[in-house]
Amino acid sequence: MKLVFIGPPGVGKGTYAKAVSEKFGIPHISTGDIFREEIKKGSELGKRVKEFLDKGLLVPDDIVIEVVKQRLSMDDCRKGFILDGFPRTLQQAEALEQFASPEWAFLFQARDETILERLGGRRVCPKCGAIYHIKYMPPKVPGICDKCGTPLIQRKDDTPEVIMQRLKIYREQFTPIILFYKERGRLVEIDANEQADKVVPVVIERLRKLYNV
Ligand code: AP5
Repeated sequence: MKLVFIGPPGVGKGTYAKAVSEKFGIPHISTGDIFREEIKKGSELGKRVKEFLDKGLLVPDDIVIEVVKQRLSMDDCRKGFILDGFPRTLQQAEALEQFASPEWAFLFQARDETILERLGGRRVCPKCGAIYHIKYMPPKVPGICDKCGTPLIQRKDDTPEVIMQRLKIYREQFTPIILFYKERGRLVEIDANEQADKVVPVVIERLRKLYNV
């Protein structure tokens, strides 16, 4: 399964990608997670991308494309992959065709007010990357990760101003990417307005049919 999960910030791409990754045993690769990890480590790459993430701006194409190319060349991607948050520009979509053409692009969509509520209530585990929501997917013990016991945090780019900036960029730049996959007959559209426990089975069912598994 070579998949890309696309859609606006906060629609739930990471949540659904984690579930599909566990179900089918293929790696979930989030460009946002990779960059946040590098920033945490203080690496050279982290220093180059920090300002873009803090402001909700897109990281330059050449950096993102190189990161994805390297990650997809690793052994665990031989059976397939789920790319979450990539591509985000036409140049990224075209580059991906050259080194790992995805079979399907899943486009998730939800109403603006739903997205804003999801981002405002999101909490993440800084250690294992698990994603929670204070209302919709709360941890068993408030503020603590169910999986590894680490205190949860709010992402730095989940402030109202940065959220608005991320949504603005999405609205301005995303239509060509949607058309790119639509014109090639590889777009799968998913209504993500429902709760995650309703959306995930829909995605899994679509994949079962597409891949006959
Ligand atoms: P990235 O990390 O990719 O952020 P994003 O695309 O803005 O997406 P999010 O991670 O915010 O949302 P999501 O859709 O994964 O939602 P989630 O599952 O967490 O990118 C961050 C930054 O990195 C960018 O701004 C940019 O600077 C840089 N970057 C990354 N990729 C790049 C690229 N290709 N090119 C250039 N720059 C790049 O869910 C959100 C919340 O809702 C959670 O709390 C969750 O629990 C809850 N939730 C999810 N689904 C549901 C549901 N169905 N019902 C109820 N609650 C739900």
